[in-house]
Formats: sequence, structure tokens, C-alpha cells
Amino acid sequence: MDKLFLVSFVALLTVAYGVAGNMLYDNFNMLEELEDLDIAEEDAEVFEFPCWTSQRGSKVLVNVDSFGAVGDGVSDDTQAFRKAWDTACSTPKSVFLVPPGRRYLVNATKFRGPCADRLVVQIDGTIVAPDEPKNWDRDLSRLWLEFTKLQGVVFQGNGIIDGSGGKWWASSCKKNKSNPCRGAPTALTIDSSSSIRVKGLTIQNSQQMNFVISKSESVRVSEVQVSCPGDSPNTDGIHITGSTNVILQDCKIGTGDDCISIVNDSSAIKMKRIYCGPGHGVSIGSLGKDNSTGIVTKVVLDTALLRETANGVRIKTWQGGSGYVRGVRFENVRMEDVANPIIIDQFYCDSPTNCQNQTSAVQVSQIMYRNITGTTESKEAMKFACSDTVPCSNIVLSNVNLEKKDGTVETYCNSARGFGYGVVHPSADCLSSHDKGSILIDQKENAKFAEPTVHAEL
Ligand SMILES: *[C@@H]1O[C@H](CO)[C@@H](O)[C@H](O)[C@H]1NC(C)=O
Ligand SMILES: *[C@@H]1O[C@H](CO)[C@@H](O)[C@H](O)[C@H]1NC(C)=O
Ligand SMILES: *[C@@H]1O[C@H](CO)[C@@H](O)[C@H](O)[C@H]1NC(C)=O
Ligand SMILES: *[C@@H]1O[C@H](CO)[C@@H](O)[C@H](O)[C@H]1NC(C)=O
Ligand SMILES: *[C@@H]1O[C@H](CO)[C@@H](O)[C@H](O)[C@H]1NC(C)=O
Ligand SMILES: *[C@@H]1O[C@H](CO)[C@@H](O)[C@H](O)[C@H]1NC(C)=O
Repeated sequence: MDKLFLVSFVALLTVAYGVAGNMLYDNFNMLEELEDLDIAEEDAEVFEFPCWTSQRGSKVLVNVDSFGAVGDGVSDDTQAFRKAWDTACSTPKSVFLVPPGRRYLVNATKFRGPCADRLVVQIDGTIVAPDEPKNWDRDLSRLWLEFTKLQGVVFQGNGIIDGSGGKWWASSCKKNKSNPCRGAPTALTIDSSSSIRVKGLTIQNSQQMNFVISKSESVRVSEVQVSCPGDSPNTDGIHITGSTNVILQDCKIGTGDDCISIVNDSSAIKMKRIYCGPGHGVSIGSLGKDNSTGIVTKVVLDTALLRETANGVRIKTWQGGSGYVRGVRFENVRMEDVANPIIIDQFYCDSPTNCQNQTSAVQVSQIMYRNITGTTESKEAMKFACSDTVPCSNIVLSNVNLEKKDGTVETYCNSARGFGYGVVHPSADCLSSHDKGSILIDQKENAKFAEPTVHAEL
């Protein structure tokens, strides 16, 4: 966007709302920061996809079949996988191969690193989990296939990771209130790792979350598909926690919970060309449950299609939490029949008992929505439900156009402040009105910008 226009626009705003002079620079800096927010996509070298079939000479093939895997979907291939892993992990330039055309039944397993250089995990066949929750290993109750402490590993192939989740879903307390609320395994986890690339895999029917990236950095995920029924409970597609510098691109996700969720201690997360539906949308959070601290910064979603999802782009935090969500840009998003296309919910409550309002909350600020179009199912196309004691600030809307097929649309605000430019439909005037303490200026954030250098740059 034209910077001069931006400056005059902000100036206009400043005059219109009669706020202090240096406010201009603050908003300008904040906007510029939001518009320029990016996460570098290319870091070449480490991430070249090895075409292992044509380089067999220099690669050491470690085929699970050579370790006794049967691949008939019935025999227990766990030990074969574990032995093959030990060999592959300790051998430089090896390819851990799950060959195509077969189904390997494998129990909960931790595949541990660190491994020798240049390991490739090539999954072309199907890996399937035992379907009976009662027999699940109690010591590994929250995981199925977990890869931990790896560095510079590539996961690729056209294979399928299938959690056989049906019985787990039926035993969830979300399905039947008389069931106890217990966590179920995550199908695929990459934990405490760095420089990881994942390409082309399909993860489906997970017991609970499909694919978790935890405590990791520099992770590139592309062309991954996730598929679970729309009514499977808590089956998040890709869940990012405690991780930095993560890029997800060209992923197609259909599931029963969030297509993508980003939680505590995560920063520099980019999502590009994402398809979501069915599902609960792309979420930051939930954060702040049980009075915990939640911090998420620098998140970009660029180019997405959400179809018939419960939410579009969402930030959800519990009452009583602390920490902050800051520096987020959602852009170039198409919504088709999405129930809550744009939503910030600081009263998130996903527990069987009601949640009380509290004085502390995870603070939400510097959130930009740009070029977001399409159709909403609910009347409230935009909902900014922010805490009375910790209001949302610097919500920026630019070229947002949301329609309801058979009726009018509106924007809901509670303790949210910010502004829009370009087309904003439904209008979001409630972001700049003065009731409920929604003044534009935030004294604390002002303190950061002592010497504005805007003039020099123009
Ligand atoms: C896998 O789990 C089954 C129960 O589902 C158990 O009988 C079997 O011993 C386990 N196999 C291994 C290798 O741990
Ligand atoms: C819910 O679970 C209880 C106990 O496990 C069972 O008796 C009941 O039939 C279940 N209800 C439904 C609707 O599945
Ligand atoms: C969130 O991450 C911070 C570290 O940045 C940690 O101190 C805090 O305990 C984490 N909160 C939760 C709920 O895990
Ligand atoms: C969170 O803090 C509130 C207010 O101090 C307290 O009433 C509540 O019990 C706390 N909740 C938890 C889960 O610690
Ligand atoms: C707006 O977003 C849509 C949907 O992703 C995209 O097709 C279109 O090119 C974007 N428009 C601009 C001006 O970037
Ligand atoms: C919490 O506060 C919000 C905003 O003021 C209000 O709409 C909601 O009813 C309150 N919830 C409870 C449980 O008091």
C-alpha cells in the first residue's frame, strides 16, 4: 500500500479522533510492521528433496521388510520398524523405507534421534495403528508415531499414516458425556527437532490430533494432506506448539477440529496456500487455559480457502490467562459458507463446566486482516469479543468483504479497538467508537516509539 496514503490516512484518523500527535507515528510504524511481517521461505541446501530412487548408489536403503515387517495389516510390525529405525538412524545417508502397496500395523513408538547425517524417512506404503484403545501402551498414552531429537531429516513419500481412530472417537467425552475426558494419541509428532522437511504424506483418521510439531525449529511442511471425518472429536489437523520458524504450504486439511492450531511459545509461523474444510478453521490458541501463560507472535496466513468450516481465522483465549498474541496477518483468504469467518474470542471455554470471567487475560494486539472475502453462515461475519479488563488493540482491517446469502451481516465488538481502510464490509465502526473504553491509543505501546524515523524514510 502507498505509504503516503497510509500516513495521511492515519493523520486523518488522528484528527478525527483527536488523539495525541505522536499517535500518528505509532500507528504508522505498527501498520508498516504488520504489512511487512514475513517469515523467510527459502533456506535452500538443507531442504533439497533427495530423489532417493535415482541416487541409490550413494544411499543406504533400510527397508522395513528386511527387518521382518509383513505389511499385511494384521501382523504386528512394530519390532521390525524399531529395528529398522535403529539401523537407519545410526547409518549415514540412509533411507528408512516403508515400501508402497502394503499396510504395516505398528504400535505406539518413539523413534529417537539424534541420527547420523542425511537421514531420509521415505513413506510410500500405509502405516496403520491398532484400533483398540484398551490395548494401547499406557506409558505412551498420548502418542502413536513420535520422532524426537532429529536434525536435518527429510520425511517424504506418497504414503498414508492412518490412526484407525474410530473407537477412540466413540469413547471421547465429546461424543458421550458419560465417558471420562481422557486424551488420545497424536498420529504423527515431530518433537525437539530442527531443520526438518515433510513433504507429500497423508495423515488420516487420527486418534486425536493428526500432526503435531512441538519444541522444534526450522520446519518446512508441504503438500501434506490431513483427512478425518468432520464429526471426529479434537482431531486438529496440524498443531504447532513451542516452535519457531515453521512454514506450512500447499496443505489440504479436512477434519473435526482446527485445521491448523498454533499455541504457546510459538513464533515466526507462516501458512501459505492452505485448504481447510470440513473443520474449525485456522486458529491461534487456545491460550491461557487454567491461568497459564500463552505467547504467540509473528504469524502469517497467506492464501487460503476455507469451505463450510465452523470458523475462518480465529484467535481464542481463556479467561484468567496471561501473555499475548501480537503481530499476526491473515491475508488473501476466501471463505465459503463459514460460520464465523473472522473471530477473536477471549471468552473461549471448552470445558464441561462454565468458565467465570476474570481480570487477567491473554492480550491480543496488532492483528491485520487483509483481502478477506466470501460468505458467512452467521450474521456476525466479524466478531471481536475481547476482555473488558484486557482489551484487544490495533485490529486492522483492509479490503474485507463478507456477505451472507440470505440476510444482513454485522460486526460485533466488545472492548476491541482498531481501524479499517479500503473496503470493509460489514462496517467495523465499533472498533473505533469510544464506548467500553475503546479509544485508539494505547499508552504502553506508545512508550516503545520514542524517536520516530518515519520522515527520513519517506
Ligand atoms: C502391540 O500392541 C498389542 C496390543 O494391541 C500387543 O499385544 C503387542 O504386544 C504390541 N506389540 C509390541 C511389539 O509392542
Ligand atoms: C454413553 O456411554 C454410556 C457408558 O459408557 C453408555 O451406557 C451409553 O449407551 C452411551 N450413550 C450413547 C448415546 O452412546
Ligand atoms: C508457555 O511458554 C512459556 C515459555 O515461553 C512457559 O514459561 C510457559 O509455562 C508456557 N505455558 C504453558 C501453558 O505451557
Ligand atoms: C485461576 O485464578 C482465579 C483467580 O485468581 C482462581 O479463582 C482460579 O481458581 C484459578 N484457576 C486455576 C485452574 O488455577
Ligand atoms: C485476494 O485473495 C484472493 C483469495 O485468496 C486471491 O485470489 C486474490 O488474488 C487476492 N487479491 C489480491 C489483490 O491480492
Ligand atoms: C463475561 O464478560 C463478557 C463481556 O463483558 C460478557 O458478555 C459475558 O456475559 C461475561 N460472562 C460471564 C460468565 O459473566
